[in-house]
Amino acid sequence: MSAEQDGREIPRHIAVIMDGNGRWAKKKGAMRIFGHRSGVQAVREITEGCVELRVDYLTLYAFSTENWSRPQKEVDGLMSLLINTINTELPTLMKNKVRLTAIGDLQGLATGVHKKLLVAIDKTSTNKGLNLVLALNYSGKWDLTQACKTICVETIKGTIKPEAIDEELMSDYLSTKSIPDPELLIRTSGEMRISNFLLWQLAYTEFFFTEVLWPDFRKKHLNLAIDFFNGRERRFGKTSEQLDF
Ligand code: IPE
Ligand code: IPE
Ligand code: MG
Repeated sequence: MSAEQDGREIPRHIAVIMDGNGRWAKKKGAMRIFGHRSGVQAVREITEGCVELRVDYLTLYAFSTENWSRPQKEVDGLMSLLINTINTELPTLMKNKVRLTAIGDLQGLATGVHKKLLVAIDKTSTNKGLNLVLALNYSGKWDLTQACKTICVETIKGTIKPEAIDEELMSDYLSTKSIPDPELLIRTSGEMRISNFLLWQLAYTEFFFTEVLWPDFRKKHLNLAIDFFNGRERRFGKTSEQLDF
């Protein structure tokens, strides 16, 4: 159930496509990595904002499967930024009772990055506050494919009967198992596409697009997104009239 605060419904799960770091840096005549580094402050702000609003889940799209095709220097820069950020932010995550998890093909990350991530996940595992989910080496198509593969293996073994495959079972084999679908998706930088994010899970999510570039994203923008969400009529296929009852 989503919570109410100041007469507003607070989404239980907010997902974010943090976009625009490169353009932010370019506008300043700086290297792209400077934009990524500056984006960390926005991550801090939105995480803190979600803690204050008592959001249950915040999923941040940090690195897509397709992002490996960027210049090697940028990929390396992003990976070391990830390690450094986990190091510097861990005490704050603990203080704010944030539980860190990750979705994506984590085996595909460099061993050092993977190890560091697992240590932080383990350290925060008993925290009872916000669930911060990092989507790393993630893509929606990857998620659906890996779920499909496992279901096929189980079906061949006989542990899943084909007639038992339904939407609930599918959800249970996705990397977001036990995480409710996002009610609100935020994408910054003016792009209006999903870029292979949570393809299954976004089936009925409300989309908030803003021109703000990710490094400039602050709590006030998060609040605008929540106001927008509150202005939506979520019909789930029904008619408006049906919702009045
Ligand atoms: C988002 O910013 C960060 C990642 C995809 C890792 P971009 O790096 O995509 O920034 P733009 O879109 O080039 O401005
Ligand atoms: C999406 O941003 C991926 C992340 C934010 C991690 P991109 O910048 O990679 O998306 P496209 O390529 O513009 O669609
Ligand atoms: Mg981009």
